[in-house]
Parts: sequence; structure tokens; C-alpha cells
Amino acid sequence: MLSVQENYPVEFAAALLEKFGEVVSRYPEGRQKSALLPILHLVQAEYGWLSAQAMDAVAAYLGIQPIEVYEVATFYSMYFLQPQGKYTLEICRTGPCCLVGAEKIMEHIATTLGVKEGEVTEDGLFSWRGVECLAACGYGPVLQIGPAYTFYEQLTADGVDDLIQSLRNNTQQEG
Ligand code: FES
Repeated sequence: MLSVQENYPVEFAAALLEKFGEVVSRYPEGRQKSALLPILHLVQAEYGWLSAQAMDAVAAYLGIQPIEVYEVATFYSMYFLQPQGKYTLEICRTGPCCLVGAEKIMEHIATTLGVKEGEVTEDGLFSWRGVECLAACGYGPVLQIGPAYTFYEQLTADGVDDLIQSLRNNTQQEG
């Protein structure tokens, strides 16, 4: 079943539309649908996640059916279909990382942040989820944080605490 939320109205800003146009221009005439994945990344970077309205607006922009956007957005795990924290910690939960403690790291993150997988902390700063192999199997446990997809390897509980604190500090400094 499609699990998308309708939550934010979408009127893409001129600067974002300009980026869309640049992406579309990379493909041959009539092949604008090929720009779908990078455009969804741009939308997610702008809004933090993909609402149904946003996907409908992307479909209208590309001249394709909304279902063509939904089927892509729901297939790839890098697209968020519900609101996320400012920082989404994505922890590899595939076998090799689990062998070196990924499950304990996820439990630690859940306890430390006080939220279950997929939930957002009250301050809106954090969410977390388990994801499949992040292609750093020799350096587990690993996590990544988008949209720049920064990697953190050989995680320990103390290392995770330091990471969370440094992200909090960054936010306060931006403040
Ligand atoms: Fe965790 Fe591959 S199994 S990065």
C-alpha cells in the first residue's frame, strides 16, 4: 500500500525550478522523465521529505502521471515519505554490521534520543532508521546522515553520543 502523507503545500521557488531545468537539460528532448530521481532529491533537500503534493507537483512539472512519481519515490529508501528530523541518522542493519554491533547501536540511539525508529524528537532535530548495506561493510557499524550523506564508521555508544552532541552544538551555533 502506498504510504505517503499530504502535509505541505507546494509552489516550487524560482531558484528550485531553475535547478529542475538544469537537470532536465541533461537529457534528450522528450526524455524529461529521466530527470525524475535527481529532481526528487532536489525537492527533498528543499523540504526535508516528499509529500504527496510535492510528488504531484513534480509529476505536473515533468508532464508524467503522479503514479509514475509515487512508484519511484516508494521504491528507493533514500526518499522520505514522512517528516524527518533535521538530522536523520541512518544506521546500516545488514548482516556484517549487525555482527559488529549495529543492533546495539540502534538501541542506544533510540534510548538516547527517546524516539522509536521513524519518529522525530520533540525539538525536531533528530530521527533515525535502519537501512540496508551502506557499502562500508569493513568499517561497521556505520551510519550516514543526509543530504550530504556524511559517513560515520566503527561506531561505539560513546562515539554516537559525541556525534549527537556535536550536531546539537552545530544547531545552537547556527541558531
Ligand atoms: Fe553495513 Fe555493508 S553491511 S555497510
